[in-house]
Amino acid sequence: MRGGSQTGARETKAEFDSTALLSAIIAFSDDAIVSKTLDGIITSWNPAAEKMFGYTAAEAIGQSIRLIIPPELQAEEDYVLGQIRRGERVDHFETVRQSKDGRRLNISLSVSPVRDTEGLVVGASKIARDITLQKEMEREREAVRQQLAEALAGRDEFIAVAAHELRNPLNVLTLLWQIMDRTLDRSSTRGEGSVFEKSWAQLTRLSSLLDRLLDVTRIRSGTLELYRESLDLSTLIREVANRFAIENSAIPISLQLEPRIEGTWDRLRIDQVVTNLVSNAIKYGLENPIAIRAFRSGDHAMITVRDEGIGISPENLNRIFERFERVTARSKTESLGMGLWITKQIVEAHGGTVLAESELGKGSMFTVRIPLSR
Ligand SMILES: Nc1ncnc2c1ncn2[C@@H]1O[C@H](COP(=O)(O)OP(=O)(O)O)[C@@H](O)[C@H]1O
Ligand SMILES: [Mg+2]
Repeated sequence: MRGGSQTGARETKAEFDSTALLSAIIAFSDDAIVSKTLDGIITSWNPAAEKMFGYTAAEAIGQSIRLIIPPELQAEEDYVLGQIRRGERVDHFETVRQSKDGRRLNISLSVSPVRDTEGLVVGASKIARDITLQKEMEREREAVRQQLAEALAGRDEFIAVAAHELRNPLNVLTLLWQIMDRTLDRSSTRGEGSVFEKSWAQLTRLSSLLDRLLDVTRIRSGTLELYRESLDLSTLIREVANRFAIENSAIPISLQLEPRIEGTWDRLRIDQVVTNLVSNAIKYGLENPIAIRAFRSGDHAMITVRDEGIGISPENLNRIFERFERVTARSKTESLGMGLWITKQIVEAHGGTVLAESELGKGSMFTVRIPLSR
């Protein structure tokens, strides 16, 4: 259409058809389609424009387009007309217009120059789409997102405060328990399976759950600090394994540790990593043998913990390192599903990586790779 170069009978016929088609499109469009002169005088106004802006075609045609522009946005029209005079378009310009009854509408505006047969710009055609609903939905979505972020931050803060507050009475209780341990009559209350031992076990469990909660909040708030020192990884792993061997004498734990893997790490945190992996191997290992290896590989230390237990399905393998993720609920009381998440955070804080390989029903192997030094 631009340039209006059609001549001859055949083209005239085609032109007629396309004009009819165009009129139909304009008449039935949901978008307001309006044309105006270079001075901004409205020359056409389709039914959608009537509906959108509340003015009938008879009311609008002959008036200035400024009719529907809110007072504070009048300058926009100067910009749009400037573009059009230069023969340029305005595409999907999001703005606000005002209807006859004073309602504000969010619209997306596209304006293009209309040329006469010589190619001279004589006016503009504009298409306006009402995006009020869309805008409202965007605003609602944003509000919901904001609320969610606030709720999450609130939750983290609540956990942090709660865990911290719970620590105090628990510390006192632990102390009292130790005093009782020293002063109570030894005969009746002692021994494995006694009320005394059971209560101590529960106390220990409570402490470790609380510590993990505190870890989560520390990591989330970015306040997990590493206290690095020189240490021998193999010695550390042997200590952890011994601790488990005492508690779980029925489960064979084999160690294959390269002597002296020296590095600078946070002793307690690396202990925690190994403890988490071995405790999982025991928890999910079906009492089958567990193998722990540690060796040097270039300037990295490698730790592998392998079990022959229940294994993890491929779809769950991706999720186990996520927070609060438990793919098998074997023991509801003991697990919060935070162990592996914390493990991963600690390993990454040391500049390392942790990887899980597993086959359902066959067993799992976790591999930790950490640089020897920073
Ligand atoms: N060695 C393993 N064998 C099988 N499944 C495991 C193993 N280690 C972890 N998982 C799965 O990954 C989940 C997350 O582990 P973790 O974060 O340590 O949480 P938790 O042990 O508290 O449940 C576990 O609930 C379990 O389903
Ligand atoms: Mg665990």
